Amino acid sequence: MGRIDSLIAEMTLTEKLGQLTMTAADYAVTGPVVTPLSEDAIRSGVIGNLLNLYGAEATRRIQTIAVEQSRLHIPLLLGFDAIHGQRTVFPIPLAETSMFDPAAWEATARMAAQECAGDGLHMTFAPMLDVARDPRWGRIAEGPGEDPFVGSAVARAKIRGFQSSSLADVGAIAACAKHYVAYGAVTAGREYASTDMSEGMLREVYLPPFRAAVEAGVASIMPAFTDLNGVPLTASTFLLRDVLRGELGFDGVLVSDYHAVAELLNHGVASDLAEAAALALKAGVDIDMMSDAYRLGLPVALERDLVAMDDIDAAVRRVLTLKERLDLFQDPYRRGRADTGVTTQSRALARDVGARSLVLLKNDANALPLAARKIALIGPLADAASEMRGPWGGAGRPEDCVGVLQGLTEAGLDVRHAPGVAIETDDLSGVPAALALCADADAIILCLGEALLMSGEAASRAHLGLPGRQRQLADAVFEKAAGKPVIVVLFSGRPLAVPELVSRAGAVLAAWFPGCEAGHAIADVLTGKVSPSGRTPVSWPRAVGQIPIFFGERPSGRPFNPADHFTSHYSDVENTPLFPFGHGLTYGDFSLSNLRVEPGDLLTVKVDVVNHGVRAAEETLFLFLNQKKPGVTRPLLELKGFGKIALTPSGQGTVTFTLPPTAGRAELFVGPSADVRSLLSVPI
Ligand code: BGC
Repeated sequence: MGRIDSLIAEMTLTEKLGQLTMTAADYAVTGPVVTPLSEDAIRSGVIGNLLNLYGAEATRRIQTIAVEQSRLHIPLLLGFDAIHGQRTVFPIPLAETSMFDPAAWEATARMAAQECAGDGLHMTFAPMLDVARDPRWGRIAEGPGEDPFVGSAVARAKIRGFQSSSLADVGAIAACAKHYVAYGAVTAGREYASTDMSEGMLREVYLPPFRAAVEAGVASIMPAFTDLNGVPLTASTFLLRDVLRGELGFDGVLVSDYHAVAELLNHGVASDLAEAAALALKAGVDIDMMSDAYRLGLPVALERDLVAMDDIDAAVRRVLTLKERLDLFQDPYRRGRADTGVTTQSRALARDVGARSLVLLKNDANALPLAARKIALIGPLADAASEMRGPWGGAGRPEDCVGVLQGLTEAGLDVRHAPGVAIETDDLSGVPAALALCADADAIILCLGEALLMSGEAASRAHLGLPGRQRQLADAVFEKAAGKPVIVVLFSGRPLAVPELVSRAGAVLAAWFPGCEAGHAIADVLTGKVSPSGRTPVSWPRAVGQIPIFFGERPSGRPFNPADHFTSHYSDVENTPLFPFGHGLTYGDFSLSNLRVEPGDLLTVKVDVVNHGVRAAEETLFLFLNQKKPGVTRPLLELKGFGKIALTPSGQGTVTFTLPPTAGRAELFVGPSADVRSLLSVPI
């Protein structure tokens, strides 16, 4: 008998349920605290897994209790949300997605994994792979944006980064793809609300990143809190057993979301903890995070014949197998040998990806890069180092973060600073002092946007404007600027619907939340040391009423025609987004030509690119497909590839994509964004 079978044969029911239970330590609060952690519970095998505890010393101490003092010496599995970095905070995932660079996505996950391992962790609840087309939903900040092809590429890169080639590698940790599935489609963007959609939509848009995660060997998956078409994911035999385990072939560990098993009672599908626990276990959820439903409910469910011991054993086997794959039985202390912190190397990576995540939305009259040295730096986010972490800052410390004021000052600019207003309050008393700086400056930089907790979990917003009195501050600055360039650096976990702000500004840089090296990264781009290259991974709305807004719409029978009233349109806003998916300016000036397709087992698509600008820059190009199928509509554009090319002034090169041949009538499009006017096309 192997180790796992003999352990299962020896385990009491309590010990088995301990392996299916994950409890939080109070290091980080990510939900309601239900069961306070007790060392006795670990010693007696009642708790076999923990979340929210990190640090070499703390994890070693607690692991020692499990390994040396519990009857069966089974090591604990320790998990934590390193959503965009552990000690070194990288840009939020939506910002990272803006890089459209799988190698960079992988590099930050690798660094986060190494830091997690240093902190004694074995697992992270990342990557978050929820496609999101509704920026009212705060968790859009945590994911890959609106497109399933991008979400799938992020999935592959992140899982390679976290898990390395073997989970047993020093510095590798288990990834947990979440939140399976369609959480991004919550009704009206309201957190934890219901979702409802056709199976076609599910399979085409929301499922692919999870399929990619399974193909990449993801060790675990977390079902979403939400229900889909009337069945909560935590209890969905169809979506967990049939689709995920059956069809996609996932054989790893399913970890419930925080307290989600007990919340089956609120969903109304279970009448007590025993029923809730039975529904989740039967659907295939192995670990109950924070409900105590397995520990308290499964013994009752067994008595009532709602579950069989075999169901419990199968889940225990999957959990122990993961612990074995992580090499925990062999060497439970191999991770967590010494706390890691931010290092020169991790900072360099954070600065590099920080700069490449920034999206230059607008740059009239070459307001950027800055020609001026005397800068008025205004706004509540100008000197807000700790806000730069964004939501889910991992174990990142505010004191390790660099704000814009520090970044610009260290870049040698002559900076005068005043916040003007706070992010959210009504107090306008600081505005005169901020305006007074404008007279003496050659350029004005306005740092505006959301506070870090305005996006992320439980952070839905119905209005997507600037919070507090920032709009008044900005208007007063525009009045006062008297022709001097006003550059807006916009911080947010989502696209903000701020068309007037954009139209009045000379330049707008979407900074999202760039992480611990924010100030340096932003200074690099503003001063021209780095040419901006980020592209928005979500369509940027003009108005909340356009939401959901995304490029992959299906055609209307009455497409908009300005000459015909009875066509698809709003009477008070354009159909188009303010900025399309993929939009982002550089300091170069690119043109495309000679789009061509070479046949073969895979189609090879090539396009030539020239940089006519005076600065070196990186261009990002997207490959879209439009298919026509008899009897069923297809999206106007489906993303099938993206690629980048760095070119010096007058430099030229070719970007190549490959894609499988498609049956039927189809057309390919290549260009710098999903704006059809910017695309070259070729029939295939
Ligand atoms: C979130 C998950 C997270 C978990 C543990 C939940 O509230 O939905 O994304 O992994 O907490 O912190």
